[in-house]
Amino acid sequence: MRYDSSSRASFGSKLGAILAAAGSAVGLGNIWRFPYETGNHGGAAFIVIYMVCVVLLGLPLMLAEFTIGRRSHASTGQAFEVLRPGSLWRWVGYMGVLTGFLILGYYSVVAGWTLEYIYQSGVGNLHGMDAAGYDAQFAAFETHPFRPLLWLGVFMLLTHFIIIRGVKEGIERYSKIMMPALFILIMLLACCSILLPGAEKGIRFLFQPDFTKVNTQVIISAMGQAFFSLSIAMGCLSTYASYFDQQVKFGHVALSVAGIDSLVAILSGLIIFPAAFSVGIQPDSGPKLIFITLPVVFQEAFHAVPVLAYLFSVAFYVLLALAALTSTISLHEVSTAFLQEKLKLRRVTAARFITMGAFLIGVVSSLSLGIWKGVGWGGMTIFDCLDYFTAKIMLPVGGLLTAIFVGWMMQRVWVKDELSNYGTLHTPYFGVYHFILRYLAPIGIGLIFLKEIGLLG
Ligand code: TRP
Repeated sequence: MRYDSSSRASFGSKLGAILAAAGSAVGLGNIWRFPYETGNHGGAAFIVIYMVCVVLLGLPLMLAEFTIGRRSHASTGQAFEVLRPGSLWRWVGYMGVLTGFLILGYYSVVAGWTLEYIYQSGVGNLHGMDAAGYDAQFAAFETHPFRPLLWLGVFMLLTHFIIIRGVKEGIERYSKIMMPALFILIMLLACCSILLPGAEKGIRFLFQPDFTKVNTQVIISAMGQAFFSLSIAMGCLSTYASYFDQQVKFGHVALSVAGIDSLVAILSGLIIFPAAFSVGIQPDSGPKLIFITLPVVFQEAFHAVPVLAYLFSVAFYVLLALAALTSTISLHEVSTAFLQEKLKLRRVTAARFITMGAFLIGVVSSLSLGIWKGVGWGGMTIFDCLDYFTAKIMLPVGGLLTAIFVGWMMQRVWVKDELSNYGTLHTPYFGVYHFILRYLAPIGIGLIFLKEIGLLG
């Protein structure tokens, strides 16, 4: 079922397809979530497991999603229904929509923080303190009763207006400039950070694995981070793939996206950890990690030329906010498309419901870090619960079911047709890919879960 493509993203060119998918994938997941998850789970060993998950599970699942999307020509809420009419599989699509909606809610809170940091660096408040000072500054902001909510609202509105305008022109055009700019800045900052005094400790933390600390929590977290960062396992990329034309080469897009995404994540680690160790910020500081480390990086790296520190910090937060925006758009698009199709709503109306709903989730999760700190579950705030539940449970379950669907429920020739663009491309690894979808991914993810809930020794 296709619907009015004029008001939605449509990616004519091959580059457009890569940019859109990479725009969705590269975001706060790489620059904010990856460093703090790495810090929480001991460093290098986590990264090794993360990379294994990207290659063995992430790439095949991304291809599987592309297959579902392009084959069905439908957004994820409908795709399973189109491919397997009347079956229970449609619930996998619905679950994906719900996952994306919940992620959108708390993700936008952090996206709002990036706006605060654009503002603070713009007015010149982000300098002249030590790490403890920046920590206190962040804490004051995070627990403020309405400041974070204000930025959350602004960010939701930005996403909303792009969604209702259609993303055809804008995203493709500015992604072409923004992504390379962000990349160059990240490289530059990583170089600066590595040169700080005492940075070696941070580099060792990142690259010298200690597998003795690995437990199932570490593995689940690494797998969840891989799925989160690649935007897979909830139908985001399958929705985008429903706009791919027959020329788009899946293998090429998947490799480019996974490559860019992983590189940005590792480089973010190279900015954060050398600097954090250099000035004594705890690597396991949690979600605030980058917000207290980055100001130190700018300040220390450019202390000889303060104006550069100023310019780079403003530029960095602007680019970070834009990277977050291309991701929130992709999350919003899935839910909006779902409501639009399912309830036959106008696109604007559907988008309004989603924006308001996600804003409410954002408000609750934001307040749970401040005045509602006590409210939560098992020592976690509502914000933490949402993050845990979506990234570490719903995404892996979504990935498992996606693998089973494409591996077992779709005809092998269809899957091969999509991967090889109807026999026009050479696909020597098809056998391995299909094997992973049928056996390795479902069994692997399944075993990790069984172990986690204690059913497996
Ligand atoms: N991948 C994005 C990031 O790294 C976030 C994101 C966008 C996402 N779409 C998603 C995460 C779908 C999970 C599922 O910032």
